[in-house]
Amino acid sequence: MTTVGKVIKCKAAVAWEAGKPLVIEEVEVAPPQKMEVRIKILFTSLCHTDVYFWEAKAQDSVFPRILGHEASGVVESVGEGVTEVAAGDHVLPVFTGECGDCAHCKSAESNMCSLLRINTERAVMINDQKSRFSIKGKPVYHFLGTSTFSEYTVLHVGCVAKINPLAPLDKVCVLSCGISTGLGATLNVAKPFKGSSVAVFGLGAVGLGAAEGARLAGASRVIGVDLNPARFEEAKKFGVTEFVNPKDYNNKPVQEVIAEMTDGGVDRSVECTGNINAMISAFECVHDGWGVAVLVGVPHKEAVFKTHPLNFLNERTLKGTFFGNYKPRSDLPSVVEMYMNKELEVDKFITHTVPFAEINKAFELMLKGEGLRCVIRME
Ligand SMILES: NC(=O)c1ccc[n+]([C@@H]2O[C@H](COP(=O)([O-])OP(=O)(O)OC[C@H]3O[C@@H](n4cnc5c(N)ncnc54)[C@H](O)[C@@H]3O)[C@@H](O)[C@H]2O)c1
Ligand SMILES: [Zn+2]
Ligand SMILES: [Zn+2]
Repeated sequence: MTTVGKVIKCKAAVAWEAGKPLVIEEVEVAPPQKMEVRIKILFTSLCHTDVYFWEAKAQDSVFPRILGHEASGVVESVGEGVTEVAAGDHVLPVFTGECGDCAHCKSAESNMCSLLRINTERAVMINDQKSRFSIKGKPVYHFLGTSTFSEYTVLHVGCVAKINPLAPLDKVCVLSCGISTGLGATLNVAKPFKGSSVAVFGLGAVGLGAAEGARLAGASRVIGVDLNPARFEEAKKFGVTEFVNPKDYNNKPVQEVIAEMTDGGVDRSVECTGNINAMISAFECVHDGWGVAVLVGVPHKEAVFKTHPLNFLNERTLKGTFFGNYKPRSDLPSVVEMYMNKELEVDKFITHTVPFAEINKAFELMLKGEGLRCVIRME
């Protein structure tokens, strides 16, 4: 029996309140409206951004909400006006979109779509400012336009990347946020040259995606910085050649430690922690004259970046990026192809897998700093 045009009842993991375990509930998912797509999610994984908005300590959030933005699935049905994808297509949902028409989408340099760029406050669909999820008629809110912790979800078509149907969805789900973000931050934004030195702050999946980018760009030294020594063992598999734990240097700023290791600073650095002090260190550890630092971590809502202007005058460059500057619909399919061609290694990022009923384990693992990505199987 077809579900097209009908409300689907399915399971979703609902965050009812900040910091409380998600509860698997039966939710109603309304059909997709104009320019919307309803997707059957098959695999989803947890990114640290979900945890921030679930904890709601350093970020404002709304509840009840269905979190989740790193996932893979199959299109179930499409709304009016959708021609880009059709039922049965294999897709990756993306937290930042690409309308294709705005000045940003038309610029080769930007992925900050005016209509669909990341918006952590929006909890409803753009079309009618309503949620497509409800429980007994009461709305449950969306997150990042994706809400992938549900068996079915509705997205704007601009946030849906159609990918090679041969790509294994249990693996490429992790390309829908973290790994592509880190990879693109290095390849598209930091752009290290062959033989250069790269510092990566934060060795979670995003940071190790950045390290993969450094490996692919031919960097000769990749210095991993993390407060969690357990990360160093894992990072060796990602071509990280040296490690710095800021805790091992008493009060010496880590930028000074790195400057000493590298005769004045690294050529490039990529920050993937979300910690403001790490962001400042990541900038101040690049070499004067040519160094480029890229911020990726999502900061505390009240964080302020403070550095002496001379650091800029001395010809250091500071940049930031969402989703590694990839345009989700145009560029993400080619990142999947990098995996299919065995250029990019993705399997090693997946350290845990749990069934949907045990989704809270993925949160526990991330809070303990264990593993990289925990993939949640919906079926
Ligand atoms: N800009 C984007 O488009 C984008 C996309 C995805 C994720 N993010 C952000 O990237 C960051 C990393 O995400 P993740 O899923 O890899 O998280 P994660 O928790 O798996 O990894 C973060 C790592 O940073 C380390 N860390 C924390 N504070 C540190 C400090 N002061 N110095 C050194 N290391 C420190 C942690 O020990 C951990 O290993 C998060 O802030 C996340 O919100 C940004
Ligand atoms: Zn993410
Ligand atoms: Zn646009």
